[in-house]
Order: sequence, then C-alpha cells, then structure tokens
Amino acid sequence: MPFNVIQILEDDLISPIIKKVAYGLATTCILGGAVYAGYRVATPAQQQTRHYRQPELNDQIETVLDSLKITDDQLIQIMHLLEDEMNAGLSSSTHDQAVVKMFPTYVKNIPTGTEVGQILALDLGGTNFRVLLVDLRGNSRIELTSKIFLIPQSIMMGDGKQLFRHLSECLHEFMLKELILNTGVCYPIGFTFSFPCSQEGLASARLTSWTKGFSCSGVVNEDVVKLFQNAIDEKGINAKCVALINDTVGTLMACAYKDPATAIGLILGTGTNACYIEQLDKVGTWKGDYDEPKQVIINMEWGAFGDNHRLDFIRTRYDEEVDLSSTNPGRQTFEKMISGLYMGEIVRLIILDLLQHELLFLGHRDTYGDYKTPLYNRGGFYTKFVSTVETDEGIKFSNTRRVLEDIGIQNPTFDDCAIVQHICRQVSKRAAKLAAAGEHVE
Ligand code: GLC
Repeated sequence: MPFNVIQILEDDLISPIIKKVAYGLATTCILGGAVYAGYRVATPAQQQTRHYRQPELNDQIETVLDSLKITDDQLIQIMHLLEDEMNAGLSSSTHDQAVVKMFPTYVKNIPTGTEVGQILALDLGGTNFRVLLVDLRGNSRIELTSKIFLIPQSIMMGDGKQLFRHLSECLHEFMLKELILNTGVCYPIGFTFSFPCSQEGLASARLTSWTKGFSCSGVVNEDVVKLFQNAIDEKGINAKCVALINDTVGTLMACAYKDPATAIGLILGTGTNACYIEQLDKVGTWKGDYDEPKQVIINMEWGAFGDNHRLDFIRTRYDEEVDLSSTNPGRQTFEKMISGLYMGEIVRLIILDLLQHELLFLGHRDTYGDYKTPLYNRGGFYTKFVSTVETDEGIKFSNTRRVLEDIGIQNPTFDDCAIVQHICRQVSKRAAKLAAAGEHVE
C-alpha cells in the first residue's frame, strides 16, 4: 500500500492525489492517516476550513498547464520546421533572412587525443567567466587548473570596453597566481565566447547580437577577437588570442579529445545551442578553403529558432511575458522555452497566475501583495529551484517547502507543494521535449 501511494506521487498524477487528500485520506488506509496527520501538523487549525479544495480548482489548474503540453505530432512538426530553418541558414540565398544562422566556425577537424601542449582557455557565456590553464598530455589525458570570476550585472550591461578590460584583469590575476606571467612565453589563448558570431576565420568573429542578458555597448558587429586582444595588450599580458569558438564547439572538441567518435556539441545551460560536423558541399555560405577534410563544424545558434513566429503554435502567454521582460525581446524564442536563464521565471509567472486566480496558496490570501518577496519579483524563482522541487521525493515535500519559504510562502500546505511540483515538472518536461526534438533533427 505505501508503495502504491508513493508510486502515484511519482507518476505525476497530482490532480487525483489532491482530490484524495481533500476528501479525507484518514478514511482510506493507515498510510493515508499518516499523511493526513502530517497535513494537519503543517497547517494552523484556523486555516483548515479554507484549505478545502474543490475538485474544479484542480481542473482549472490542469487547463492552465495544458498550454505547456506538446503532443508527439507537434514534436514531429517542430523537427520538420527546424530542418527547414537549418537549410535556410546554410544556403547563401536565404542566410540573411534566416533565423537559425548555422554559422560555419572555421573549425574543420576534431582532435585525435594525441595533441600535446599548454594553452590558456577563457570561457565567457553566462554570469561567470572562467580562466583555465589546459595541459594536453596526449593519450586523451588533460590536466586543468582554473578559476571562476563573476561578471557583475553592471558589466554585463555596461560599456564593451569595460567588459574586455575586466576580462583581461581576471586573466592577469590568474596568470600571476599560476606564475605564468612575464615568463617570456607568449601563451596561446582559445577564447570560448558563447554568443552568436559570424566568423571570417578561426581568430576573427563579429558578434551579431547579444543573448542571455548581456547588452554591452559597442560590441555588436565588431570583431570580438580584436577588442579582446587590444585589452590584453593594454594590460601588458604576453598572450595571443589564436581562436574564438562557441561553447558548443568547445564542448564537441573537448569530448572528441577523449572520444574521437563525438559528432555533436550540445549546451543546455544559461542558454541553449548545438553544433555538429557538416559536409562542405551542404554549406552554401562557406568562404574558406576546400582542402581535406571537406567538412566544417556548424554553430547552429538554434536558440533563435521561432524568432520568425513559426513556433507561435506552442508558445504560451508566460513565454510571451518572459520575452517582453527580457533584454532581447523578440529574440531567442526557442532558448526562452528551454534554458536556465528562463525556466525559473516561467514557473514563477505560472505560480503568480494561479495565485491571482485563487487556485493556489489559498491559505495565504492575507499576505497577498507582499510585493517585496521574491515571488513577486522577476528572477525570484531560480531555475535551480525547478529541479529541487521536481526531484523532491516522498510526501513530506521538505525541499519544496524550503523553496516556497525562500520565495515568501510560509507554511505551504501539502496541496500547495504538490501543485508547485506539478508546475515545475510540466515546465521542465516541455523543455526536455523541445531540446530532444532539436537533437533528433541532426
Ligand atoms: C546562447 C548563445 C549561443 C550559446 C548558447 C549556450 O544561445 O547565443 O552562442 O552557444 O547560448 O551557451
């Protein structure tokens, strides 16, 4: 019996459970009694009558969450659409209008795992900036030393010069600590710059637009390698940026060093994107040489899929709201349904909507409108909370309660926890399905 109850919880059938709770678990079985007791302990007596949930409320919640569901037929349609967009991005006659840009990266081959040497790798693409000293040992072995630096919001949204100055200061600090500054050696730098760039060579890349909350002035349309190299030179660092790559490409290369059969790089992080190895005869926009190997890694920039409204049939009003309040409205439609910068916010907006329609947190009507709590503020529900809540096992909901308390909901009921978990699971299931659809096309 206990096994059955727990299984039901894990099976996502939240609505029937809520009905069971509401109609009195005490009468069903011993475990039911225990659940009921837990429920009473967690709720002040005076609120108990207000916690009676009418079953119709759950139907209304399901209706709201139905907008997040993607059927198998829709998934197939999305795969076909993405394939069309990929072809548009690859063809020279349609590339300019295409939303999925399919940028050739000038990386024509993958490592064999036998390469040796020391290089500096810099990684910028989210709220962190990582500096690494990479020691390739051959035999697929790599030794790493690294340090993470924060990129403050003021720099993410400030002046471009200030951004690159900040990066070179972090690099300076790292090299000083690792005793590789002023050694007479000019270190090669591989710069992982995870934003859409149109490349003209391995060390020449123009930023086409900022994504993921960055909006530094004076960088779009500029050669990022030049801007960075100027800042490095100004700081007197003896290092040369020899390659700029996207994080998807870095991922593919790093995995290929260990397993040469690797063919795809996929990022599901602050943003989302993928790259893969394409035959040159399929890349109409290719301006490089046709020497062997006749292939190149393509940075898809699939986060922009849907920017021409072709994904509107699956977008919800929460997606629209997330988009409107972002730093790049109208852009990165696919990314905003999938990735870490946005998933928590989608959940927060759904919670707020249910709350305003009196479908959730019924015991908290008195504290409505405490606009200072994270629940009422953009970004207040972190994406890490989504996974904390959706993986919260058992009937105590201890982690979910902690998260809800963090966002300003004190003493949430069993129902509140179950509903919030259901929301988190639906949002993350949709993201997983969409990412899988993208991956399947390749
Ligand atoms: C964004 C960037 C893309 C990057 C991805 C994952 O979509 O535009 O370049 O690869 O995030 O970090």
